[in-house]
Amino acid sequence: MHAQSQNPASFKRDIPFLFLHPGRANRGIGLALVKEFLKHKDVGIVIAAARHPTKATALKVISDPRLHIVELDVNSDESIKNSYKEVEKIVGNHGLNVLINNAGILLSYSTKPDGKISRDTLIRAFNTNVFGTVITTQVQ
Ligand SMILES: NC(=O)c1ccc[n+]([C@@H]2O[C@H](COP(=O)([O-])OP(=O)(O)OC[C@H]3O[C@@H](n4cnc5c(N)ncnc54)[C@H](OP(=O)(O)O)[C@@H]3O)[C@@H](O)[C@H]2O)c1
Repeated sequence: MHAQSQNPASFKRDIPFLFLHPGRANRGIGLALVKEFLKHKDVGIVIAAARHPTKATALKVISDPRLHIVELDVNSDESIKNSYKEVEKIVGNHGLNVLINNAGILLSYSTKPDGKISRDTLIRAFNTNVFGTVITTQVQ
């Protein structure tokens, strides 16, 4: 997981924005982060990204108006661009204070006992965990 933020000195302290990638957010650290940030009343907006928002049941039951759900698959450049536009509509000129790249996969990989090399498995892991994170962070 990677977190990025501006220089804290330049935060609009009254309206911090967050953008998380908790995935489907029915489990895991992403959902816990969403709930934790919403406990703080000085957090203005929390945007949670999910590959399939309609299936994000654990997110959808949170009735806090500060929470927004956007669709995002970090393996797709088109999806990343679309989510950027959605986030832009939500935060306007304020921009984001914090971006948490939480989306990640852990694929089983071993060359033992059969000694098989699995370049495809490594490429899939890097595509989501590395390239997805970099492009999501850089997109504009
Ligand atoms: N738990 C640990 O002990 C631990 C330790 C070190 C690092 N981490 C890292 O911390 C992060 C969260 O861990 P976790 O335990 O909460 O994992 P998790 O429950 O597996 O959650 C990862 C989330 O990433 C989402 N995701 C996967 N591929 C995606 C894609 N292409 N686009 C958008 N979302 C995608 C998944 O969405 P779906 O629900 O749609 O599948 C899932 O909800 C991960 O990056 C993990 O590698 C965790």
